[in-house]
Amino acid sequence: MRHLIATSDLDREELESLLALTEKFVEVSSRPIPKVPALRGRTVALMFFEESTRTRLSFETAAKRLSAETVGFSVSSSSVKKGESLRDTAQTIEAMGVDLMVVRHASAGVPRQLQNWVEAGIVNAGDGWHEHPTQALLDCYTIQTRLGSLEGREVAIVGDIKHSRVARSNVAAFTMLGASVTLVAPPTLLPPSLRGWPVRVTHDLDEVLPKLDVCYLLRIQLERQAEALLPSLREYTAYFGLTARRAELLPPDALIMHPGPVNRGIEIAADVAELPRSVITDQVRNGVAVRMAVLFAILGSAGDARSTAARSEVVGGESSA
Ligand code: NCD
Repeated sequence: MRHLIATSDLDREELESLLALTEKFVEVSSRPIPKVPALRGRTVALMFFEESTRTRLSFETAAKRLSAETVGFSVSSSSVKKGESLRDTAQTIEAMGVDLMVVRHASAGVPRQLQNWVEAGIVNAGDGWHEHPTQALLDCYTIQTRLGSLEGREVAIVGDIKHSRVARSNVAAFTMLGASVTLVAPPTLLPPSLRGWPVRVTHDLDEVLPKLDVCYLLRIQLERQAEALLPSLREYTAYFGLTARRAELLPPDALIMHPGPVNRGIEIAADVAELPRSVITDQVRNGVAVRMAVLFAILGSAGDARSTAARSEVVGGESSA
């Protein structure tokens, strides 16, 4: 693997092998010193053109646990709007000897475009409404750990599908692993066309809840809604929020998930987010191991003497500060 831009670029085997590799890094992360020398001497650039807390820190933690160097910046997209300056920025950073760029940008397609301009590996950390593949991987991993597998599972993705790169990446990944996905949203928060999406769609959350294995809530992305797509947030919560009453309609072992950041009281009630079946903290924790797996899969590929040695160190389970 050279890059990770979209979950739909992966086939099932690649997806499953990343999840298997994640397992190893979960083990590494559980050690007293959660660090291995696997990517010593490598440099990872964290290029966050759009604000982020958890995703940026998660990638940074992942890179450091693999002993890679990290450099990075985070700016609002407004300062790097022109294609020309984006290219300049990327090439300047590459000239400093960067091996891999983790890129988040408000515009869909930026990570793919960067592939044409630099030799470094590119990992998409969220591009506009397009994709957020490491989120999908950590969600698959979390479900697999809790429920055994995604095969035959019923998953609902609820909320602001239209503006959600998480929904796009997760629909592709969940269905690839054999789950059935239902989108639950008001018509104004669905994409104009769902042609090619392997999903069912409903506007009735109460009706789907009793059949679910996973209820995946999306954040209402107020910053992305130029038009007034909702009559009011109160009305949204009344129809699509996971309230305490609605959470009781779920089967007893169904999971509640959310990519964060959570708008408590809007898409999910504060006390529902705290239920034992709500695995939001597991998602965050697993995110680090998933990102370690992705960085390692790209920078530690076979044929490179340094990384082959590193791989045996990882698999051998030696820890090193
Ligand atoms: C998501 C994102 O930024 O795409 N959050 C995240 O990465 N943890 C979802 C969101 O912002 O709602």
